[in-house]
Amino acid sequence: MTKSVYVGMSADLVHPGHLNIIKKAAELGDVTVGLLTDQAIASYKRVPFMTFEQRLQIIENIKGVSQVVPQTTLDYVPNLEKLKPDYVVHGDDWREGVQKKTRQKVIDCLEQWQGELIEVPYTKGISSTKLHEAMKEVGTTPQIRLKTLKRYLAAKPLLRFLDIHNALSGLIIENVKVETDNGKQEFDGMWGSSLTDSTAKGKPDIEAVDVSSRMNTLNEILEVTTKPIIYDGDTGGKTEHFVFTVKTLERLGVSAVIIEDKTGLKKNSLFGTEVEQTQDSIENFCAKIQAGKNAQATNDFMIIARIESLILGKGIDDAIQRAEAFLDAGADGIMIHSREKAPDEIFEFCDRYAQLKNKKTLVAVPSSYNSVYESQLQERGVNIVIYANQLLRSAYPAMVNTAKSILEHGRSAEVDDKMMPIKQILELIPGGK
Ligand code: SPV
Ligand code: MG
Repeated sequence: MTKSVYVGMSADLVHPGHLNIIKKAAELGDVTVGLLTDQAIASYKRVPFMTFEQRLQIIENIKGVSQVVPQTTLDYVPNLEKLKPDYVVHGDDWREGVQKKTRQKVIDCLEQWQGELIEVPYTKGISSTKLHEAMKEVGTTPQIRLKTLKRYLAAKPLLRFLDIHNALSGLIIENVKVETDNGKQEFDGMWGSSLTDSTAKGKPDIEAVDVSSRMNTLNEILEVTTKPIIYDGDTGGKTEHFVFTVKTLERLGVSAVIIEDKTGLKKNSLFGTEVEQTQDSIENFCAKIQAGKNAQATNDFMIIARIESLILGKGIDDAIQRAEAFLDAGADGIMIHSREKAPDEIFEFCDRYAQLKNKKTLVAVPSSYNSVYESQLQERGVNIVIYANQLLRSAYPAMVNTAKSILEHGRSAEVDDKMMPIKQILELIPGGK
């Protein structure tokens, strides 16, 4: 009788290594490919470039593949128990690293019916990491980038964004990665902060840096990055102006705008009630959201409503009432802001928000309640965490220290070990030589 063989795969950037595994598997019997869903892949590494449907189309048409089934978790066991294959075939590169445990579970599971794990030597000379880098060099298009946020939201329980204020900050978010016990970690996208953009331009965060200037910053970042951008739209300005901002952002490939329910001269929220700030009426703000939604050209762009009730001391009831109204008006999500040191009021808001029938994407900005872990916010239903200003806040003191040291010593040698070596800065941006 023909034996059955199971091969789990992401198959994002398909290379000869994948084909080699399928070929070896086909020599053993009928091959079922368990194609990992975006969610399954995102649970241990970045969201794939290609959608599940695109990857399915490719794998279905590869010689030697009899059928393709979705594998919805990194864990193979649910599919293996259903299919009870005689063999599982995998590259031998999963003996170490995040997949080590997954591998052991496969071996234990197969034992139940005397199945066998066959490991194919990893194909040398082809690196998925290098292919990923090459993809990044090719860049992206506005349409692809715009859609990415919704794709990521569907694939991951929690997304992480960090502030941008120039191209270099964008490159940091694009490229910084760390390995942890839970797999590779990186930022999912960029927050076009009004605070850090204005500050980098030496202006206060009061909508004095006009939309054209903000778009210039975005443009320099778009030029050198591929990750999605959420733009801080402040109050959105006049409704008649906001509709133009929406169209511009969409054209650039920005995925979402967040507008806050304040009116008149906007001051930064982290001043709280220390400064005069006026909250917009529910009615006016709903009209602004609706006008924005009507203006957008694609279904992918998101308008997220930011609620300032907690910042202005108006309480949770007011915040929840606004959330419900803004969602009914068509907002694609809610950002709730707080300037408390402790996350308690945010937690309470999240718990009540979770009960709303019309709830959608929820965004939190743990600037002042910074002891909170992402996992705690995720448990309470938060979908996007924005680190709104940390990059600029860390750059500024480092630069001031350097400036002071040069003044104090009459030379730069004393501060040299705090700086990036000259060779490194020359090579930081490829293509300079
Ligand atoms: C920003 O980053 O500009 C924000 C968040 O709007 S906050 O500064 O906390 O208001
Ligand atoms: Mg802002």
